[in-house]
Amino acid sequence: MSPQAEIIHGLTQVAPSLSPKYFYDARGSALFEQITVLPEYYPTRVERGIMAGHGPDIARSVGTGSTVIELGAGNCDKARALCELLAPKRFVAVDISEAFLHEAVASMRPSFPDIAIQALVADLSADIVLPANLPLAQRLVFYPGSSIGNFDPRQALALLSRMRGLLGDDGALLIGVDLVKDASILHAAYNDAAGITAAFNLNALAHVNRLIGSDFDVAQWQHVAFFNPVASRIEMHLQASTDTLVRWPGGGRSFVRGERIHTENSYKYLAEDFLDLLRRAGLPNTQVWTDELAWFAVVLARP
Ligand SMILES: C[S@@+](CC[C@H](N)C(=O)[O-])C[C@H]1O[C@@H](n2cnc3c(N)ncnc32)[C@H](O)[C@@H]1O
Repeated sequence: MSPQAEIIHGLTQVAPSLSPKYFYDARGSALFEQITVLPEYYPTRVERGIMAGHGPDIARSVGTGSTVIELGAGNCDKARALCELLAPKRFVAVDISEAFLHEAVASMRPSFPDIAIQALVADLSADIVLPANLPLAQRLVFYPGSSIGNFDPRQALALLSRMRGLLGDDGALLIGVDLVKDASILHAAYNDAAGITAAFNLNALAHVNRLIGSDFDVAQWQHVAFFNPVASRIEMHLQASTDTLVRWPGGGRSFVRGERIHTENSYKYLAEDFLDLLRRAGLPNTQVWTDELAWFAVVLARP
């Protein structure tokens, strides 16, 4: 399905939704970068702390000299730290946000003259086709940021299985996963006082306007985020603050005041449930590093 068809399909359902991948135009990527340094947004800070604190141990377990492939690389900040730790021969940064990715990779190259660095624009929800010349031996797929939490457990299993498919038998996955914790901490992380997460969520409508030619009036929508304890996930929605009609070429739909477009899930895992998912994806041999509060886990998983 084309992005246009996928977006219109989601918007025209009884319970309308939009994939979180549409957050990431250049502005969305820049807003996410701002989110990562917000005081309330612990995941980036805690994950970086785990990687820094356990760096030598992680490097010993992964081994050096490999090919690192980061999925959803964003600004490549975590890749920089990992490349310093592992000194790989090659690094492939994969992301859907084209302009932002090329900029991030260009600014990374001068710091790592001995690493062959490639950018690959791709959508992880489809098949991931790596550059044909990439050696199969000693691959490390790096998927930080708990981005796996954006997929429901069934989709996450399918994605983890596809990641396993990118690896040879000597390969590994290094993945960050956000863990279940007090709901008030989760709530604050997605409802920051500065309103950056709200701007990030609302920006998806401006992106959609460009992608499908729709006329969403962003001022008529509000950011809503809450923890759903039954599904163990943060949900983000955009809520209409007034009755409104949205049109796009060939169609449109009306929204009543209070109606919501579901824009993101962020699943929070118990560590043992996540390890079970990895086992079912063909990655049963795991090592886990966490912070002292067990808010976040970095997992190395091998076939
Ligand atoms: C939550 S950010 C994480 C960025 C960075 N890896 C980190 O840990 O800070 C998610 C990243 O994945 C990218 N992304 C989201 N959905 C994607 C998809 N379907 N395919 C490829 N990249 C995607 C976004 O552009 C963004 O850079």
